Amino acid sequence: MSHADSPVPVKARSGNTLTGRMCPPGDKSISHRALILGLLAIGETKVRGLLEGDDVLRTAAACRALGAQVTREADGAWRIAGAGIGGLHQPEQVLDFGNAGTGSRLMMGVAGSHPVTVTFDGDASLRKRPMGRILDPLTRMGVTVVDQAEGGRVPLTLKGPRETIPIRYETPVPSAQIKSAVLLAGLNAPGTVTVVENQASRDHTERMLRLFGAQVSVEPHGEAGRLITLAGQPELRGVELTVPADPSSAAFPIVAALITPGSDIVVESVMTNPLRTGLITTLMEMGADITLTNERENGGEVVADLRVRHSALRSVEVPPERAPAMIDEYPVLAVAAAFAEGETQMRGLHELRVKESDRLQAVSDGLAAAGVAHRIEGDDLIVCGDGSAPPGGGTAQTHLDHRIAMSFLVLGLAAPGGMAVDDGAMIATSFPDFVPAMRRLGAEILEG
Ligand code: S3P
Repeated sequence: MSHADSPVPVKARSGNTLTGRMCPPGDKSISHRALILGLLAIGETKVRGLLEGDDVLRTAAACRALGAQVTREADGAWRIAGAGIGGLHQPEQVLDFGNAGTGSRLMMGVAGSHPVTVTFDGDASLRKRPMGRILDPLTRMGVTVVDQAEGGRVPLTLKGPRETIPIRYETPVPSAQIKSAVLLAGLNAPGTVTVVENQASRDHTERMLRLFGAQVSVEPHGEAGRLITLAGQPELRGVELTVPADPSSAAFPIVAALITPGSDIVVESVMTNPLRTGLITTLMEMGADITLTNERENGGEVVADLRVRHSALRSVEVPPERAPAMIDEYPVLAVAAAFAEGETQMRGLHELRVKESDRLQAVSDGLAAAGVAHRIEGDDLIVCGDGSAPPGGGTAQTHLDHRIAMSFLVLGLAAPGGMAVDDGAMIATSFPDFVPAMRRLGAEILEG
């Protein structure tokens, strides 16, 4: 990828109110999974509302390399003619996942459990992210790590066993990517695979596996955990599904409207799976005026329209157990907290250190550039506001991280000095239409 060579500076200016309706793009987690299960199914899968961001397009390319036929129809629907479990092809080239942690990690479970040899690579951000957390359970399932960059990183090469070993695995951190890699590998194992989670993480893999015809049972485990059991070697059948709008992308217009005086917007068809709505819960505790209307089902998930109006926010303490339900939303919550009155304490953020960037550090540096008082205490972030807008006016370094870029542009929409980011190119990984969509609501965002 050439993003690092050609950064796209972007600026946001304050002064405009945000009004109108918008629909965020399809959920990234669900989009990856729809393509992957389409690859592993027999017959045809049709997906509407797929996120056409770079991360997901990389997964589509990997599915093709592994034997699926993946096409985009003129009406925007995607069709996947599956290769079936056990039917993957030996890819001819390296699978380059660009910036995509989810696509690469889930696909390690898929390809690693088949008798093929596959090399995974990515951009400078992905090359820094730990893959040992996926390689550990996969090795126990019989996968050979032929080669890896120092510290268990990509580029790495996996060779699948002739027969994948079914295991019981307790995830060391609450991570849907680890859980999903094990379950997806388990699809090609003769027997039962069990994943134990001490804290529940997003459950889209379990839900979608059922939709495609797998037998998956989910039981409570301890206070907040789950025990997930999958019967291996099912015959998955292609399905038709519609991807609901991504709550992690919805987070940006939602926070923008809350902090920009006079704003009143509706964000449509947002997935309200409780394992994804930690940010909405937190914002409501902070006094946000958010109303959920028109709740309905869409693609096996519940969605709702969210009306969001500018609100006076007050600080709260966000407990560590809420982190899995809002792990990608802390950067934009930190922005909301900068406009709130009091000290917002976000606890237990260690997983933020291994995202597309070290997000704890990147948020802290961006807040400093915007003139926001804050501190990091161990794994906690404390943001101090007085209920008025912070000055803004600086430039946030995005470190190839889409969510850092969008968060600080949102801050600039309501800070008197606006805010710049050094590089907005990565926004295309998850929310390619972010700038035009925000402009349609009235935001002033300038590229270049
Ligand atoms: C994701 C899981 C989360 C999240 C990521 C998407 C998924 O990562 O941060 O953006 O689709 O499974 P972890 O599993 O590392 O928490």
